[in-house]
Amino acid sequence: MVFCILFSLFSLFTIAISSSVFVSAFSLVNDFHVLVSLKQGFLSPEPALTSWNSSNPSSVCSWAGVFCSQDRVVSLDLTDLNLGGSVSAQVSRLDMLTYLSLARNSFRGGIEIANLSSLQSLNISYNQFTGGLDWNYSSLSNLRVFDANDNNFTALLPLGVLTLKKLKYLNLDGNYFYGKIPESYGKLVG
Ligand SMILES: *[C@@H]1O[C@H](CO)[C@@H](O)[C@H](O)[C@H]1NC(C)=O
Ligand SMILES: *[C@@H]1O[C@H](CO)[C@@H](O)[C@H](O)[C@H]1NC(C)=O
Ligand SMILES: *[C@@H]1O[C@H](CO)[C@@H](O)[C@H](O)[C@H]1NC(C)=O
Ligand SMILES: *[C@@H]1O[C@H](CO)[C@@H](O)[C@H](O)[C@H]1NC(C)=O
Ligand SMILES: *[C@@H]1O[C@H](CO)[C@@H](O)[C@H](O)[C@H]1NC(C)=O
Repeated sequence: MVFCILFSLFSLFTIAISSSVFVSAFSLVNDFHVLVSLKQGFLSPEPALTSWNSSNPSSVCSWAGVFCSQDRVVSLDLTDLNLGGSVSAQVSRLDMLTYLSLARNSFRGGIEIANLSSLQSLNISYNQFTGGLDWNYSSLSNLRVFDANDNNFTALLPLGVLTLKKLKYLNLDGNYFYGKIPESYGKLVG
């Protein structure tokens, strides 16, 4: 009897441990590591991102531009912070993000956003991103606002954005997209 009880307590304990290990792959600690690796890709992150202290994981929710809800990073606002360099693909691992703005900096190189099913607003305008925006939009199904105005994208128009059912605002002006503009683009802008 005692053995049975001990055994079941032990099983509960191991279940608790394995589920917390599972959860930790999608936790604030994960968000912390992603933000640290993003900062590593930025040129001139100081002084704007001095608060992003990589030796202090528990401070992540008070970092400049970072907003948390229920112990997860849900919003990242890096608008107009004089940042350069590149934006690591790691950004797509901030899986609880609802709002992301990288607007009005000097980011270069390609950018890919995917797998952010909670993301509602994405603003990458006024940078020097190059390449295309041919992303997997079905993994961004909650996107309502997408502003990529004034970058250096040179590619075919990303027709995938037309599959975004909740999209209310789309701005791809000030780039070098080419290709036939489908009528459905007009419906979105209006
Ligand atoms: C970063 O955090 C560590 C640990 O809390 C602290 O000792 C250090 O002073 C902090 N650095 C800055 C620049 O705030
Ligand atoms: C995106 O950010 C730029 C720069 O701050 C701002 O002017 C623009 O209105 C924003 N776009 C949207 C759709 O909010
Ligand atoms: C999205 O998730 C898939 C499956 O986990 C992964 O292969 C892909 O690299 C991710 N995309 C990005 C941009 O992180
Ligand atoms: C695109 O994302 C959807 C939803 O996350 C996923 O089911 C699909 O496999 C992805 N497609 C590609 C080509 O990665
Ligand atoms: C982006 O385009 C502008 C204007 O054509 C140009 O001055 C700048 O060098 C380009 N930047 C990159 C990274 O291609």
